Amino acid sequence: MFNGSLKDINKSQWLEEYWQKAPCLFKNAFDDPPDFLSPDELAGFALQDEVESRLIIQNSQTSQWTIEHGPLEQSRFSSLTESHWTLLIQSIDSWLPESHELLNYFRFIPRWRFDDIMVSFATDLGGVGPHADNYDVFLIQGIGERRWRVGAKGDTSKGTTVIDGMSHLQDFTPIIDVVMQPGDMLYIPPDTPHWGISKGESIGYSVGYRSIQTHQLLSLLTEKLAETPHHQQFFADLYRKKENKSNFFEDQLVQWAQQQLIDLSSQPELLADLMSKQLSLSKLGEYQSTNITDIQQLKEDSQIQLQQGVGVNWLIFDQKVRLNVEGESFDFDPKYLETVKLLASFSPVSVKLFNFSPDLIDFPSALTNLVNRGYVNTIK
Ligand SMILES: [Fe+2]
Repeated sequence: MFNGSLKDINKSQWLEEYWQKAPCLFKNAFDDPPDFLSPDELAGFALQDEVESRLIIQNSQTSQWTIEHGPLEQSRFSSLTESHWTLLIQSIDSWLPESHELLNYFRFIPRWRFDDIMVSFATDLGGVGPHADNYDVFLIQGIGERRWRVGAKGDTSKGTTVIDGMSHLQDFTPIIDVVMQPGDMLYIPPDTPHWGISKGESIGYSVGYRSIQTHQLLSLLTEKLAETPHHQQFFADLYRKKENKSNFFEDQLVQWAQQQLIDLSSQPELLADLMSKQLSLSKLGEYQSTNITDIQQLKEDSQIQLQQGVGVNWLIFDQKVRLNVEGESFDFDPKYLETVKLLASFSPVSVKLFNFSPDLIDFPSALTNLVNRGYVNTIK
């Protein structure tokens, strides 16, 4: 357990000890717990078509669970009991720029691992039941209190019950059992049982992570190959000399398939290009800038910063410094490496470092494009 501000924790040491390995409790991690949403505002999101929301109710008499997927009707809330339910709103970071402030605490994990912020409002005894997720998550206590029980990573073998699409663990042995107060935080690695129950009304924030799976990698390759027909090969059976009346499935087909996969996997630039673009997309893939900067407004002493909510990563690609933002690539001359790194880490950057002058003669066109696309904010 850690006690004290998240900002003061040695992140490298923490990552080495806990990340993906073991759950961890942070007492008093936030001096000012996140508080950008009231229960009423949260309920308002559940009425919207484009917002992913779930209402999870446990019957207080029978203990049976039910799940309702949004959008919900306003009248649904007045018919709910006073306890035993929770409302979950997914990807609040896509809808509420105020939530981006929270991401600043988690910059020690690259943006391409971040999935979304989920917010949950729970009434007394409300929760989603005992379960384990596939992904890492930080659970932050906002207003109110919740009792959390967390098992060891991998303690998920005692069986699950699937109810209404929710997978509940039948049993696990808690190694953390805590009543979280506002500003406390839990880290839960993948495949780790956890169970939160609200004590009175409470709001919790979940900063969730994502990864990439083999099938997603193969989909990216499929899409790419479909765009470039000349890269596609047909199986050919020049080896055929004898008749095959029995319809035997010949080994050469498998050898051909193996060779195709080897050829694709021996192109690291292709894989880097596909995955880095994909993993620079926000979860919903439709980032909308709220504040487009006009390049004409930049002055020689201006400072710029990447918009807080955008997905980003950078890599060296084709001898250029490539900044990927929301699925788009912006290629910079290698002399801007250190400056692009600052920009990619959401730090304020003086435009002088990009050779800005009012005539824009030496200003990199990649940066002009970034500004024009609304991915950059002027902060001075
Ligand atoms: Fe969970």
